[in-house]
Amino acid sequence: MIEVKNLTKHYGNQRGIKDVSFAVEKGEILGFLGPNGAGKTTTMRILTCFMPATSGMAKVAGYDVFEDSMEVRRRIGYLPETVPLYTDVSPPVYLRFVAGLKGIPGKEVKKKVAEVMDDVGLNEVSHKLIGELSKGYRQRVGLAQALLHDPEVLILDEPTIGLDPRQIKDIRNLIKGLAGKRTVILSTHILPEVNMTCKRVVIINEGRIVAEDTPEDLTQKLQRSTKFELRILGAGQNEIQDGLQKIKPIKKITYLKGEEKDHLFLVDIKENSPEIFREIPALVSQNQWGLREMKPTGMSLEDIFIQLVTEEK
Ligand SMILES: Nc1ncnc2c1ncn2[C@@H]1O[C@H](COP(=O)(O)OP(=O)(O)O)[C@@H](O)[C@H]1O
Ligand SMILES: [Mg+2]
Repeated sequence: MIEVKNLTKHYGNQRGIKDVSFAVEKGEILGFLGPNGAGKTTTMRILTCFMPATSGMAKVAGYDVFEDSMEVRRRIGYLPETVPLYTDVSPPVYLRFVAGLKGIPGKEVKKKVAEVMDDVGLNEVSHKLIGELSKGYRQRVGLAQALLHDPEVLILDEPTIGLDPRQIKDIRNLIKGLAGKRTVILSTHILPEVNMTCKRVVIINEGRIVAEDTPEDLTQKLQRSTKFELRILGAGQNEIQDGLQKIKPIKKITYLKGEEKDHLFLVDIKENSPEIFREIPALVSQNQWGLREMKPTGMSLEDIFIQLVTEEK
């Protein structure tokens, strides 16, 4: 349904996004996760035909966002980071105005507005002015305008930012309910958000895609491990690896490099397992190998990044 290939955007000589590629299947809810300044809004603005890319390609339902922007707009509902709302009218008046802009035929407007007001739960504030509404209700008005023309695709840019915890819960449930037959991209800078709403996550950092995963696997990776480089002498790679595998706190062994009887491994060890400092040397001495090095390594960029985007304040 959505296809993005090598999308690049420069703002003057500033990086916007670089070589961004991903795809979203019909009916899927994709989480677009990254810290502030990562390039989420830039990507979404290109997808919604708000601005052109510098290079690369993006298609929605087979239509190119640049060549066929009218066809794309017809199929997309967009909730921008800050919704341009008129504060001195009531939600139905605003929505009728937006319906006009979207080219919804006059005789359908009233029915459509009533439907979306119902869908997003705006009826109880229908007579208030938008300026009087809480941030949570304003966000519902934003969602309502995105849904008005019944689009196949929904692009939601940080839909829960600035809301209080109860409003966040309400909006998340609302989004889940709205998804159904629609294809949704939802951007966020917090991991728990994608856990609750999305089937798949694309992670962007400093303008580039750094990972793509299911929320479950991401969470798994977050169960922090400690990494050590181990350099062991005196036996073949397989023999050493077999021995290491029997040490319980070692979760994963990666072979980095080596020669015939001199091997470098990277081992992931469960957090808080001081016994490895006894068990690894014991294994080495039992087999009359030599322990040349055992040193902790720093976290990879990706580890650091995943931690960065996980912290929900
Ligand atoms: N209008 C603009 N002019 C210049 N630089 C911009 C503009 N919009 C975004 N950027 C830059 O592009 C990068 C990505 O920004 P953005 O897409 O807004 O990230 P995110 O939505 O993930 O926070 C940032 O470095 C930002 O400073
Ligand atoms: Mg943004």
